[in-house]
Amino acid sequence: MVEILPADEAGIARAAALLRSGKLVSFGTETVYGLGGDATDAHVVAAIFAAKGRPRFNPLICHYADTDAAFTDVVPNMPARQLAEALWPGPLTLVLPRRAESHVALLTAAGLDTLAVRVPAPSVTRALLRAVRRPVAAPSANRSGRVSPTTVQHVLDDLGEAIAAVVDSGVCTVGVESTVLDLTGEPALLRPGGVTLGDIESVIGQVRVNNENTGAARAPGMLRSHYAPSLPVRLDARTVSAGEALLAFGTPLEGAGLTYNLSISGDLVEAAARLFAGLRVLDAEGHTHGLARIAVMPVPLKGLGLAINDRLRRAATPRGDAELD
Ligand code: TXA
Ligand code: MG
Repeated sequence: MVEILPADEAGIARAAALLRSGKLVSFGTETVYGLGGDATDAHVVAAIFAAKGRPRFNPLICHYADTDAAFTDVVPNMPARQLAEALWPGPLTLVLPRRAESHVALLTAAGLDTLAVRVPAPSVTRALLRAVRRPVAAPSANRSGRVSPTTVQHVLDDLGEAIAAVVDSGVCTVGVESTVLDLTGEPALLRPGGVTLGDIESVIGQVRVNNENTGAARAPGMLRSHYAPSLPVRLDARTVSAGEALLAFGTPLEGAGLTYNLSISGDLVEAAARLFAGLRVLDAEGHTHGLARIAVMPVPLKGLGLAINDRLRRAATPRGDAELD
C-alpha cells in the first residue's frame, strides 16, 4: 500500500526516512508532482526509470533545499549565480557542469558531464529536501507518455504500485514543469516552463532559443556531447576476441579478458544502474590495456532493457569505424 503522507512535520520526517533508505517517494512541488529518489544511488535512479516506463534514459533533474546545496554538485558561473539569486527558489532548472567530486550517480544525468539542478519553491518541499540531506532526482511522477500530475490522485492513478509513499501538498500552483536553461555555454532554453524567458532575460540578458516550435534547443538525450566511449562498440556479441573488452550481461562469454559485468544475475535494474560506469571503466582500462574495441553482450529488449539498448545503440554509432578481426 502506498503511504499517503500529510505535508506536516511527521509526514516530512517519514518521507525523508523512506528516501534515505532508498525508497521512491512522490512529492509535490510548485510545478508538478515529482517521482523522487536518492540521486546518489544508481539503483534507486534505475528504479525511477523503471517506474516511469521510459523507453530511454532521459537525464533527470536534481532537487535541493537551497542554492548552496545545489552548487555543491555543479560549478556555477556568473549567470547561474545571478539567476539563483533572483529566481530561486522557483520553477527554474539550471544545467551546469557537474563537479568531479559530486556523488550524484552517473545514471541520474544519463551519463552526461552536466547536471540539471533546481530549488523548488514550496517551503514543505524544501523542508523535505533539507531533511533528506542528499540530492533528490525527480522526474514528473507520471508514466511515460502520460501528462504530468498536479494532484496526489494523478500520481496514484499512474504510479500507485511503484512508489512507497506520496507527500500530499495539495494541488501544484504552477501546473507546468520548470523552465530548463542550459548554462554550460551561451545561455540556451532547453524547455519552456514556469519561469518566462522574459524573467530570465531581465536578469542575464539574451537567451538562445533554437527551435521556435517547441522552444527547446535540442533533445538532451541526443546531444553530441553525450557520453560515448572513445573505443568502438560492437553490439550483440556472442563471442569475444583478444583485442576486445567485454561488457557482460549474465554469464560472461568464454575467453573474455577485461570484463565489466552489468549484472551477473541478469537483473535489468542492476544493469541500468551500472551501465554508464561500466562504459567508462572499460573505455579507460581498455585504452590502458591496448584494446581496440568494446564488445557488448545482448541485453533483452524488455522493461529497462529498452532504455539500456537505446543507450548502447547510441554508444555504438560509428565514429571512424576502427576495424578489428
Ligand atoms: O518541474 C519540474 O522540473 C519537474 C518537477 C518534479 O521538479 N520535474 C521534471 O523532470 O519535469 P523531468 O525528468 O520530467 O524533466 C527533466 C527535463 C528534461 O527535459 C530533461 O531532458 C532535462 O530536464 N534535463 C535534465 N538533465 C539535463 C542535462 N544534464 N542536460 C540537459 N537537459 C537536462
Ligand atoms: Mg516529465
